[in-house]
Amino acid sequence: MAKTRIAVLISGRGSNLQSLIDAAADDDYPAEIALVLSNRPTAKGLDRATAARIPTKIIDHKAYGDKAQNYEDGRTDFEAAISDALDDADIDYVCLAGFMRMLTGEFVNQRRGRILNIHPSLLPAFKGLNVHERMINSGVKIAGCTVHFVTPEMDAGPIVGQAAVPVAPGDTPQLLAERILEQEHKLYPRCVALLASGKARLSAGGLVLFDDDECSADALANPGR
Ligand code: GRF
Repeated sequence: MAKTRIAVLISGRGSNLQSLIDAAADDDYPAEIALVLSNRPTAKGLDRATAARIPTKIIDHKAYGDKAQNYEDGRTDFEAAISDALDDADIDYVCLAGFMRMLTGEFVNQRRGRILNIHPSLLPAFKGLNVHERMINSGVKIAGCTVHFVTPEMDAGPIVGQAAVPVAPGDTPQLLAERILEQEHKLYPRCVALLASGKARLSAGGLVLFDDDECSADALANPGR
């Protein structure tokens, strides 16, 4: 059977991209990475894609206007270029993996239930940036990561899967980020597999539905599992 075609959108390091590349190397994995797209020409993740012989595309947002005020003009041309690249590669699902540009509501709504993101907190807590530092400063004892569908509101879409990660006494943002990242690398490939195989889906009402309990347990990657 044909595999689900995914595009991974990155801006930098690409360690989550690598976890998807590694998972997709298995013949039984239900998705293949058909495109890696970066808005930064120097993103390290591009090298990972090239090493895995995955087609890459650079769509540099700076060529489309880089200012927040330019949102209307610059952003939509930028997104039109992304759309063309996704269409050309016949993409089914888009996986954001450290992609540092906000996407407009129009772009996101056109692909309802087709864009995923991974975020390093247990959403809906700690949306946005600098989450590791904010989590430590808040005193929470359990941190984690979330794979969710992307909706126009940032970090607020329906949750597919989560992993819990303890905050250790004396944690620095970097130490906590590393501990969470380990779980991110397990969680994202699992969630993508559930969606690509059709074992999980977004309902019309905006909830993620799973075929059975085993599938919904797969969307959890708690320590030790
Ligand atoms: C990850 O922590 C991810 O959760 C967040 O951005 C970071 C990307 O890291 N959205 P990488 O580029 O995948 O290594």
